[in-house]
This record gives sequence, structure tokens and C-alpha cells, in this order.
Amino acid sequence: MTKLKHLNHISFKIGLIFFVIMIDLEGFVIYFLHQNIVKERVKDEFNSLLVRSNSHRDVLEQYNDPDSIHRVAVMESKSDLIVIVLNGNKKSIIASRPLDRGMRNIISKPVGKITHKGKIIEKHWEDEKYIASVSPFKNGYVYMFKDTKQVQQLISQMNHHFWIAGLLAFGITLILIILLSRILARPLINMKVATKKIAKGDLSVEIPVYSKDELGQLAESIRTLAREWNHLREERSEFLASISHELRTPLTYIKGYADIARKNNCADNETYLNIIYEEAAKLSDMIQNLFDLAKMDRNSFQIQKQNFPLFQMLKHKLSPAFQNKRIILTVKCHPSIQLIADPVRFEQVVINLLDNAYKYSEPHTNIFLTVKKADGAWKLIVQDHGKGIPEEDLPYIFERFYRVDKSRSRSFGGTGLGLAIVKEIVEAHNWHIHADSREGIGTTMEIRFQGGDIIEEAAARR
Ligand SMILES: Nc1ncnc2c1ncn2[C@@H]1O[C@H](COP(=O)(O)OP(=O)(O)O)[C@@H](O)[C@H]1O
Ligand SMILES: [Mg+2]
Repeated sequence: MTKLKHLNHISFKIGLIFFVIMIDLEGFVIYFLHQNIVKERVKDEFNSLLVRSNSHRDVLEQYNDPDSIHRVAVMESKSDLIVIVLNGNKKSIIASRPLDRGMRNIISKPVGKITHKGKIIEKHWEDEKYIASVSPFKNGYVYMFKDTKQVQQLISQMNHHFWIAGLLAFGITLILIILLSRILARPLINMKVATKKIAKGDLSVEIPVYSKDELGQLAESIRTLAREWNHLREERSEFLASISHELRTPLTYIKGYADIARKNNCADNETYLNIIYEEAAKLSDMIQNLFDLAKMDRNSFQIQKQNFPLFQMLKHKLSPAFQNKRIILTVKCHPSIQLIADPVRFEQVVINLLDNAYKYSEPHTNIFLTVKKADGAWKLIVQDHGKGIPEEDLPYIFERFYRVDKSRSRSFGGTGLGLAIVKEIVEAHNWHIHADSREGIGTTMEIRFQGGDIIEEAAARR
């Protein structure tokens, strides 16, 4: 129950806001209408009273004889109006009904300034007994009265109608607003429920598409988030499984050989210790690689760009490693290229690419490292004539721990993390890497430097 209340919170708020606004508006309109209609209605009453007294006055002005005066009184004796004719001294000449205190009160009031059109002399229909008009004629005054009870009844009848209309409007508004706020809030409530489920780890939730507006976009974003998160979760568990698997192999070696070395005290021990040392070294490499990747994942990985001469770096750092396998590395690079990049990371990229080319090539083949500008973009290309990568493996080589030939790669000390690291570094620079390979023919790795990050010193000086 409390949950339901909580869920409907937003619709309640929306509803309340609408309701307050609507009721204010409706109240104002109804009040305004009521006031005006009442005013008009009462004015009509006054007018008809005055018209009537004026018409009697007109008769009396024309025929000022007792007969005519009498006829005037007779005329009103059947109606709900009362007529009283007074002489100039305000003495009653005739009245259609006997005078009471209310009438006397009104008659005794001074008439004040009065024109031929006559005037309303008593307007207080709400609290006096009569409303009254007076029309002057040359020998006196014609007073007309109307009992205010009738006027009050009329108005109260009208009020009654207004009350009914007001209550109806109130009810309809209430119902409409409840429906409307539900409709408005439903997508939000659904999304809230869905995100709660997602937060609890249930990624199977469905959020229907409502519209293309902001709410629809929000639903779409939540869906995307859920998908991404699911993907990340799967990736993480896969990654953890790979790590434990990768750690197990060298550790098994280390444990096994250490055990043997422990048991016999012969000269073979050195071989075993060598194996143990190598495996330990591989492990420590792998852990370093993993550490690098973890840093990149946490986004705390920062590229420290600086300007450095590319050719010098390539020449000094890389050449010696390739001599012992009798593989010829040819570097084609303009000697005065300046590169703006993170030198340490960049070196890591180049070493990884060359290391692969070297590992997966036969002796007496060539490796080319080329830096050139083509189609308006700089490119760094590492090309070998080694064993190549099968077409079906090519899309996956940048994934963590992916190796085409696990045992072979392992024997070279490979962990399958090298290209993953390369890709992270390249993308951190906003660059792009692409692999091209044919089995048995060779592999080409191409990095595209965008945005003119390389400045040619010679050209810059000119
Ligand atoms: N130049 C290359 N020639 C052939 N195969 C390659 C080359 N570069 C990468 N590969 C394949 O891609 C896999 C992933 O490379 P990498 O991430 O560097 O891992 P590794 O630790 O095995 O070198 C390698 O195991 C290998 O199968
Ligand atoms: Mg490698």
C-alpha cells in the first residue's frame, strides 16, 4: 500500500498543480459570471419598475381626473407591483394596496433632485422590504413598489443553478485531472519501476516506447544503459575467467618445477630454476599489462602529450631486438618528423606492434615500419611477411586475451593483451588502428593520426 502511494507521488503532484490552477480559473469565471448576471437581472427589475411608473405618470399627466387615477390603482391591484399616487405635499391620493411601514418609510424619504425620467429611490433589494421607483408629474408623484422577496427568490433560484453548474465543473475537472495526471505520469512511473529493477540487477525489464518526445528519449536512454551494463557485466565475468585461467598456467609450471627442484638436489636444478624464472617473468609481465589495462578502464589513464622527434625514438629504441632472429627491420621515416603524443605510450604501441611482427615472422623475412602522409592524414604502418592471421580471427585480435594460437603465443611469452593495450592507447589519442592480414602472406597494422598531430619541422621552419 505504501509502495503504491509512493509510486503515484508524481501523478499526485501533477494532478494537484493542475487542479489548483483549474479550480482557481473556474472559480474566477463562475464568480465573475454570477456577479454580472445578478447585476443585470436586478437592473432589469429596476428598469421595468421605472418604465411602469413612468407610463402611469404619463396617463396621469394627460387625464388628471379622479377616474383616471382610480383606473391606475385598479390596474395594479392584480399585479405583483404596488402603485401609490401622491400629491405635491406627499399626501396619498390613491394606493393599489394599503400602505405599510416599509412603503411609508420610502415615501417619507426626501425625493431630492428628480427629472422627468423619474428614478429608483430604493435599491437595496437584499435587505429592504421593497424596491421602489418614483416618477414626478405636475400635481404630484407616482411611486411604484415591488416586494424584494420576489427579487430575492429569483436570485436565489439563479444561485441554485450556479451551484449545480459549479459542482458539475468541479467534479468533471477532478475526474479529468485524475485521468490526465495518470496518463502523464504513467511512463515516468513505469521507468522508475524499470530502473529500480535494473539497479537490482534484473536486466530483462521492458520499457515500452511511448513517444518520440523527451520521455521517449529517456526510456530509450534507460534501455541503452541497461544493455550497456549487461554487456559490461558479461565482459567483466569473462575477463575475470580469462585472468584466472591465464594465471593458472604459469603458476602450475612454477609450482611443478619448484616442487621437483625442492625434491632432488642434482645439477638439473638450474634448468628448473630457469623455467621457474621465465614463468615468473611472464607472470609479472602479464600483471603489468593487466595493471595498465585496469588503469585505462578507470579513466584515470592520462595521455601526457609532448612534442618529440619520431625518427630518433624509433632508431634508438628498436633496432637491437631484431638482430638475433635475422629479421631485417626497415624503417622508412622522414628524419625530421615531430610528433605530438605521449612518448612513453607511443613507444609501447610501436614496441607491441613490432614485437608481434617479429614473433609471428620466420627468420630471413622483412619487416617494414613506415611513417608517411597519405590522403591528408599521417600513417604509421607496420608490415610483416609472417604467418598472417586467419580471416575469422581478424575481428577479435584487439580483444583482451585473444590469441589465434594460444600455445604458440604462450611459448613466445604472449598474453593476448598486447593489441588490447595498443588499441586503448591509440584511442586515447583519438587515433585509429586497423589490421589487415592474409594467412601465409603477412600482416599490416596501420595507425591513422588525425587532425595533423604531426608537425614536420622542416616544413614548419620554412
Ligand atoms: N603480426 C602478426 N602476425 C600474425 N599474427 C598476429 C600478428 N599480430 C597479432 N597477431 C595475432 O593476434 C593475437 C593477439 O595479439 P596480441 O594482443 O599482441 O597478443 P600476444 O600476446 O599473443 O602477442 C596474437 O596472439 C596473434 O595470434
Ligand atoms: Mg603481442
